[in-house]
Amino acid sequence: MNTDIYYFSGTGNSLFVAKELQSRIPGSNIIPIASLMQKTNFASSADIIGFVFPVHALTIPIVVNKFIQKLNITNGKYVFAVATRAGSVFRGFEKIDQLLKKKKRRLSSHFILEMYHNDSRHGSEYQKYIVPSNADILALEKVVLEQLDLIKDIIITKGISREKDINYTIKTATNPVLGFLVEKIVIFSMKISEYFGGVNYFYYDEKCNSCGICERVCLSGKINIIDKKPVWQKDILCYMCFACLNFCPKAAVQIHDIPGVKSYSKENGRYPHPYATVNDISDQKRMDTLK
Ligand SMILES: Cc1cc2nc3c(=O)[nH]c(=O)nc-3n(C[C@H](O)[C@H](O)[C@H](O)COP(=O)(O)O)c2cc1C
Ligand code: SF4
Ligand code: SF4
Repeated sequence: MNTDIYYFSGTGNSLFVAKELQSRIPGSNIIPIASLMQKTNFASSADIIGFVFPVHALTIPIVVNKFIQKLNITNGKYVFAVATRAGSVFRGFEKIDQLLKKKKRRLSSHFILEMYHNDSRHGSEYQKYIVPSNADILALEKVVLEQLDLIKDIIITKGISREKDINYTIKTATNPVLGFLVEKIVIFSMKISEYFGGVNYFYYDEKCNSCGICERVCLSGKINIIDKKPVWQKDILCYMCFACLNFCPKAAVQIHDIPGVKSYSKENGRYPHPYATVNDISDQKRMDTLK
């Protein structure tokens, strides 16, 4: 029995989970989605297929959506998904089921793991971005590893686990009707951003020392260093992975305010990505990591 685990990770949380799953599931491969997106056709003939990715704006990342649409599943009937998130409600498993339906498949199992937030633009009282301490990270890692031991048993035995998401800790609004509307608006905004490519989303400030790391980690290839400074190219889709923001050693990458969302990226710290190096992230683009 072989297993293909496709992963996407902006700051290493989902990569950590993919690697830990691989070490627990005999005969499993981990395959970076970002590298496959450079190919026109790709197929999996594995018995078990898994997707591991972060929650983005209450749903699945833009690139995971595009990837599942293009993936040709030739064999596996057992498909699972693991989402890592900071704590909001997640509506993405329904979305994956819609995409899989066209391939006559559905998710047999899905799981959510709470990890640290990598989006440091927030400053409001209920969503303020706080950089976790090493002790916080170690404590969280212990919980995640315990959860993965249970998840692995379900996957290996091809068990069914499709629990409804009721344990989310971050509310989009205190009033449920308002919360419903906010969810619809956020998911709609994500779709819009897919078409516009997040053109003016980021900028660099005076702290930039021209090291080029943002270009290396940019998973969609949107950033080019031109005249020693990063340029977010208009015609390339941003995957919203936030690797450029979090891996810049000078915290020089900033997020613009957008209508309704003020950015506090200048005031806030960055996610210290304990689970990944610059190479771990940039290697997701390497074609030679593919089988
Ligand atoms: C653009 C963006 C949007 C996000 N939206 C959500 C969200 O709606 N809900 C949530 O719980 N976490 C959200 N997060 C946090 C990530 O899901 C979380 O930190 C994840 O573990 C990051 O995984 P990665 O390091 O593999 O990219 C968001 C992060 C980014 C960058
Ligand atoms: S990573 Fe930061 S310091 Fe390096 S080039 Fe990019 S913006 Fe400048
Ligand atoms: S521009 Fe930044 S957020 Fe967008 S894909 Fe590149 S690294 Fe990720």
